[in-house]
Amino acid sequence: MSELASEKLLAAQAAVKQLADGMIVGLGSGSTSALAIREIGAAVEQGLDIIGIPTSVASEELARELGIPLTTLDEYPVLDTTIDGADRFNDQLELIKGGGGALLREKIVAAASKRFVVIADSTKHANPLGGFPIPVEVIPFGVQTVLHRLEELKLNPVVRQTDAGAPYITDENNLIVDLRVDTVADPKQLAEQLVIPGVVEHGLFIGLADEVLMGVGGDVQRFVK
Ligand code: A5P
Repeated sequence: MSELASEKLLAAQAAVKQLADGMIVGLGSGSTSALAIREIGAAVEQGLDIIGIPTSVASEELARELGIPLTTLDEYPVLDTTIDGADRFNDQLELIKGGGGALLREKIVAAASKRFVVIADSTKHANPLGGFPIPVEVIPFGVQTVLHRLEELKLNPVVRQTDAGAPYITDENNLIVDLRVDTVADPKQLAEQLVIPGVVEHGLFIGLADEVLMGVGGDVQRFVK
């Protein structure tokens, strides 16, 4: 296993150890979350009694395959905890998420959780926050107007495409616009600038994470607020 994969696994295992019987658990998206879902699947097989709420179709399919009982926000509008990955995080536990395109459901589930635990490998730690495009989820009807505004703000917007060259469509049938900015000096200020009609949500997660568990070498480093 590569060092990166082992860091992701260590972080995922540390987060899954925090789960207890009776919890409603948000299941994140992306490669690190997939490892956590696999760990949860193994724990459920051993008798752990939790119910999951997936943040993407991909995570839902994986959880179903593993026999993890699932529910919805309609049944449980408040979750006990969510375990999810991040594309970048800083020491203030501000995150960039949505590299996998699942940011909208991820943010809804994280915000609905009493606790939000982020799992990451050591390449994700960035002060200042940056080094990864900031995804913005946009309603197709308004995309050209939103792009025009983002250009005016000098945020270098690019509509995300699939490998086949078609526009990338999210689980909620929207588009993703990636902002090619190097670093974000003031994430809160940027989040305010992104309140634009047609923008459904953006990948800056501010004030949501309670803890980041980062695999580094053979250890797990814990960041808290
Ligand atoms: C999915 O939309 C993202 O927010 C992921 O949580 C994030 O991209 C991290 O993914 P990896 O764990 O694959 O790096």
